[in-house]
Amino acid sequence: MSTTSPLVAVLMGSTSDWETMQHCSAQLTKLGVPHECKAISAHRQPDALHTYVEQAEKDGVRVFIGAAGGAAHLPGVLASLTAYPVLGVPMKGWATEGLDALLSIAQMPGGVPVGTLAIGKAGAKNAAILATQILGLAHPACDEAVRAMRTAQSEGASDLPVIE
Ligand code: RP5
Repeated sequence: MSTTSPLVAVLMGSTSDWETMQHCSAQLTKLGVPHECKAISAHRQPDALHTYVEQAEKDGVRVFIGAAGGAAHLPGVLASLTAYPVLGVPMKGWATEGLDALLSIAQMPGGVPVGTLAIGKAGAKNAAILATQILGLAHPACDEAVRAMRTAQSEGASDLPVIE
């Protein structure tokens, strides 16, 4: 990529979400997408979240990923603060293994979309890929990185582990 300043912000409601969201960051790194990761709670740090989004937009962030569990409001609040695409990743845990967060993130009112991914690790990984696909519309390097990843994935799809 020609830029090293973050194009994607990976936000989570708590540092306890990092165990899952590290997979999002790792996938973005593999795809060569500059990004930054931060824990900012929509409930506990609303002012800090507002300030962060304002500055991140100025600094060049073009896709926001929000991860939260339980009453998972972070992605929705992010979507209320920016007109750039927001992707939401529901965290497992709490009473319903992430179903609460999934519904909370998906059920946005018409007019304020959040692209909602699967619960947990698969959602974290796919949020990274989808963010890169969105960036690929304007950044050829991102488009090429996703296409190369998809080709490698197809080629390796039938490989069985080697038994020694
Ligand atoms: C949510 O509450 C966070 O996103 C996290 O998934 C969950 C638990 O947060 P902690 O109590 O671990 O800080 O807001």
